Amino acid sequence: GLAMSGTAFGQDYPTKPVTVVVPFSAGGPTDTVARLIAEVMSKDLGQQVVVQNVGGAGGTLGAGQVATAADDGYTLLLHHIGMSTAPSLYRSLPYDPQTDFATIGLITSVPMTLVARKDFEPDTLDELIAFVKANGEDITYAHAGIGSASQLCGMLFMEALGTQMTTVPYQGSGPAMTDIIGGQIDLLCDQTTNTTSQIQAGEVKAYAVTTPERLGNLPDLPTTAEAGLPGLQVGVWHGLYAPVGTTPEIIARLGSSLQAALADPTVIERFAELGTVPVSAAEATPAALTEMLTSQTAQWKGIIDAAGIYAE
Ligand code: MLT
Repeated sequence: GLAMSGTAFGQDYPTKPVTVVVPFSAGGPTDTVARLIAEVMSKDLGQQVVVQNVGGAGGTLGAGQVATAADDGYTLLLHHIGMSTAPSLYRSLPYDPQTDFATIGLITSVPMTLVARKDFEPDTLDELIAFVKANGEDITYAHAGIGSASQLCGMLFMEALGTQMTTVPYQGSGPAMTDIIGGQIDLLCDQTTNTTSQIQAGEVKAYAVTTPERLGNLPDLPTTAEAGLPGLQVGVWHGLYAPVGTTPEIIARLGSSLQAALADPTVIERFAELGTVPVSAAEATPAALTEMLTSQTAQWKGIIDAAGIYAE
């Protein structure tokens, strides 16, 4: 009967625009992934999927906002590897990534590249290593705040060299890249979703990519292993989340929409141009994202505790 119509079971969802919070600046790597996905999800859901940039505190501000948002399917979070590093990096994080969110699915894993302002002295990774060891804190390293992927990569790089540089935080690696291009800052390790076109255009100097194999879109760029830093391997995995308590029906509807986006030819093509690939349908699931979050949180805890880097 009417009382048992679709609305009662959430089958009409969504009936209004859905907000996806990106916890970093507009125009940066997470934003780029989110906008590509959101465009297809909008068509699939029949409602606008609107990206909202909430930058600050290395992604923890935006994530915290979604943790306490209504669990009605209208506020989501698109975040990356930082969901697994922040709990170890912050002495007091106002949310728990593993218990305050319902997972929807993995999205992609993005390689990172070490880049510098184009007139920075070292030309190769070997030269860069020697230069950083010799000049330490005279070198400025840009990152997107404690809990960001660029901060994690910089931390691993400095750990590998046993050297500290002067770190400069931004609200996202979009603005960090602007200052690298402008020559105001020396070095950045950032995702190919934000560095590919700048490397191809020669606007920045590039040293290495953090994947086991070279990338199809940047074939001249050596891997960190080839160039002498085999330990520096990072894949910036991304996931889609809703506040915990969101109904399984809504999570399933969002999951099928995410899967549609990841199978979209335009998304696949644009991802390839940016050095990445969508995950398989089996990985774009709550179980796969939960498993990734759990295992990565444990893995990074050991590494971060050893490095002894904390934010309040
Ligand atoms: C961004 O979107 O600005 C990045 O993902 C920042 C980062 O994590 O390095």
